[in-house]
Amino acid sequence: MKFTVVYLSVMVFVAAAVVNSCPPSDREALLAFKSALTEPYLGIFNTWTGTDCCTNWYGVSCDPTDSRVNDIILRGESEDKIFEKAGRSGYMTGSLSPSLCSLDRLTTLVVADWKAISGEIPSCLTSLPHLRILDLVGNQITGEIPADIGNLAKLTVLNVADNKITGYIPASIVNLGRLMHLDLSSNQITGVLPADLGKLSMMSRALLNRNQITGSIPSSIANIYRLADLDLSMNQISGSIPAQLGKMPVLSTLNLDSNQLTGELPVSLLSNSGLNIVNLSRNSLDGYLEDVFTPGTYFSVLDLSFNRLRGAIPKTLSSAKYIGHLDLSNNHLCGSIPMGFPFDHLEASSFTNNDCLCGSPLMRVC
Ligand SMILES: *[C@@H]1O[C@H](CO)[C@@H](O)[C@H](O)[C@H]1NC(C)=O
Repeated sequence: MKFTVVYLSVMVFVAAAVVNSCPPSDREALLAFKSALTEPYLGIFNTWTGTDCCTNWYGVSCDPTDSRVNDIILRGESEDKIFEKAGRSGYMTGSLSPSLCSLDRLTTLVVADWKAISGEIPSCLTSLPHLRILDLVGNQITGEIPADIGNLAKLTVLNVADNKITGYIPASIVNLGRLMHLDLSSNQITGVLPADLGKLSMMSRALLNRNQITGSIPSSIANIYRLADLDLSMNQISGSIPAQLGKMPVLSTLNLDSNQLTGELPVSLLSNSGLNIVNLSRNSLDGYLEDVFTPGTYFSVLDLSFNRLRGAIPKTLSSAKYIGHLDLSNNHLCGSIPMGFPFDHLEASSFTNNDCLCGSPLMRVC
């Protein structure tokens, strides 16, 4: 009996020791990833030594049940003590080794804000079946988004903003059925938005600003029920704004500024009381500001400057609950500026360079 107990505890101990150390293949993959990078200031990779990559390897965590590597989280800007000690933010050169692709249990890959990591996104990353978060923001990554990105069935976050990515948005992206957060902003992406982008039904933020995207805004976007934040600003998008965007249930931020949009400003955008931040500045929108404002109107930002809007400023705008920043300058508006809130706290610059606006805060009397 006693012998059995001792024997069993030895067995448990041996089993635990085996399970608690990371498999040599995962360790090899991490070491190959490390050897393709150079991080001169903080020394985070000095912690990547010893056989057990699950213990004390900076930024690495494992599944406690089988010690497979689950997460690599390396952020170049963080509150971590290692940064405080070095008195600076992170900086890393080198590239992302395809050895990462043999970490087939990886759910999170964050290699963010290292400023100088270059090279391409290894295309084999799209074969990682469990990947949920891919965050490579703030580097100098070149090349294209892998064509079969849509294979990542569990992906919820795709953030490659602030890099030097070129090429088109892959058609397969619309197959990312669980994607909630898409950030491709500040790259050199060309081509058009996929017509069926609206298939991304879980998406709540879509940030594609500061690229060279052409073509029109697919009206299918309006089917994305959860979309709260859409930023397509600073591209070369043309065509008209789909009026359905104004009917979206939770859309609160819509930035389409600095594009080549034409056609009429959809009235629905001004009457949707959920939309709080709207920037349509620097397009070629025409049409009238219709009288659709109500006591439910609440805009922190309504920037319609540098367009071709005509007609008068509707009197109902002064029934709004709140208007923080209003910019109607550089249009073809005419007539007297309504009095009272919100017009009494606005400066002349909100109204300058129109055809014939008059009244306070402009100097021109009506
Ligand atoms: C709106 O967009 C324009 C052009 O891109 C930009 O200059 C302006 O600052 C933006 N307005 C606000 C209030 O952010």
